[in-house]
Amino acid sequence: MTTRRAVCPGSFDPVTNGHLDIIGRAAKLYDEVVVAVLINKTKSSLFSVEERVQFLKECTSNYSNVRVDSFHGLIVDFCRENDIQVIAKGLRAVSDFDYELKMAQMNNGLSQVETLFMPTSPLYSFLSSSLVKEVATFGGDVTGLVPDLVLEKLREKLDA
Ligand code: PNS
Repeated sequence: MTTRRAVCPGSFDPVTNGHLDIIGRAAKLYDEVVVAVLINKTKSSLFSVEERVQFLKECTSNYSNVRVDSFHGLIVDFCRENDIQVIAKGLRAVSDFDYELKMAQMNNGLSQVETLFMPTSPLYSFLSSSLVKEVATFGGDVTGLVPDLVLEKLREKLDA
């Protein structure tokens, strides 16, 4: 039987509890979930790709069917190379839908890969990695919004 495989792609700079909610829910629906960190040399990031991958590995170690990888180039090429049929995404609000729909249609046109949209938990509907970084940079408390490991790493990075 075919292994039903989904990818959760993103920048994950850093991973938030919103991301982990979507990854955990996708892990219940598919045989295997690959969390794929985009290597984007044109975009500056707080954490290196290696750090982001490491945080994700530690934060998803409780799921036996989740693995973490990184990729560059098109997500549809990563899907083809890894025999992945579905891109799983969280939608926080209507504002996400506009761009996500375009990407889903483009990706389906390029390769027939399907996109599954899951409504984000209302607990995290306002949450983004960018906001977390901004709030943490200016000394705001992001406890409960990111895993404890990330909280610690944010403090280390921003206090340095
Ligand atoms: O966490 P992000 O930055 O919102 O994630 C965006 C991501 C990585 C999912 C998206 O930019 C992507 O899939 N990039 C890979 C390049 C690609 O395939 N672009 C065409 C999309 S239609």
